[in-house]
Amino acid sequence: MFEVNDLNDEAFNQPAILMCSSDNTTSCKIKLYGATIVSWLVAGEEKLFVSEKAILDGSKAIRGGIPLVFPQFGQPDSSMPQHGFARNKTWKLINSRTSADCCEVDLLLNDDESTTNLWPHKFNLIYTVKLSANELSTGLEIVNPSDTEFACQALLHTYLKISNIHDILCAGFAGFDFIDKMNNNAQSIETDNSIAIDREVDRIYCSKPNSDIVVSIKNHSSKEMFKIESYATSAKLMDGLNHSDNLSKVDGSEKRLSTDVVLWNAWIEKAKSLADMNDDGYLYYVCVEPGLVVVPQLVPPHSTLTLSQKIQAL
Ligand code: BG6
Repeated sequence: MFEVNDLNDEAFNQPAILMCSSDNTTSCKIKLYGATIVSWLVAGEEKLFVSEKAILDGSKAIRGGIPLVFPQFGQPDSSMPQHGFARNKTWKLINSRTSADCCEVDLLLNDDESTTNLWPHKFNLIYTVKLSANELSTGLEIVNPSDTEFACQALLHTYLKISNIHDILCAGFAGFDFIDKMNNNAQSIETDNSIAIDREVDRIYCSKPNSDIVVSIKNHSSKEMFKIESYATSAKLMDGLNHSDNLSKVDGSEKRLSTDVVLWNAWIEKAKSLADMNDDGYLYYVCVEPGLVVVPQLVPPHSTLTLSQKIQAL
């Protein structure tokens, strides 16, 4: 049986939720600050990287786990923080569901004065996290409850924990275009079936209609360690339903979209420049970040857009 518990004794008085199996060997810990998943244990083994220097007192986005990026990726609008504000706001738990083989929680963030000052739109974000034996699924639903459309970017900034960056290969990108942030945003097509990370890598692999990027992280003997699948859906809210503290309901108009995927590792110099990462921190993670970032997504009035990923630890 799985269960969901509040963690009231968190350091720095930062509330968190623990989802766990009855024997505690499989679990997921989510800080309400940023709705950031900061731990995912599978059979007692940690699968997410959190920097030893991560700031956990709610004064800065957490360096590691799965921070949420919304409503902008990077800083196209320089008056808004890098990667938006969702990772710096305190969310609230609104629902939880448990069963013999999985558990699920929904967290909510609504617009408020501070978000409207940065981004003048009404929204509700509903973040659903589902934990089962060796899978973690996270879905960010972006609800536009108002009468005017907005455009946004969103991304699930997943830091996967690895034994050493020199020991892994990243597969699944061949045939997709990518924007190389390390090369003046030059765009090219990926020809490599297995990418070894041997320098700073900061690339946005671009979605293609009807073709999902399914990422595998493997070791050099081709043993798969992680498989990451992602997709998005857009839909209209059911008539007469604007928003509430509960899950939104959509009508039958759901449309499926493919996602972009960012591949990022800071490598040596950038890791040194990050105050909240050890100099050698880059060795122990690779970020695989499904998102809707290349083209900002329009969310029409009374509609929703959901970005989802499923990570399997193998
Ligand atoms: C990645 C970006 O998503 O996030 C990188 O592609 C960026 O350019 C990285 O450096 C970390 O961003 P931040 O704001 O968490 O330091």
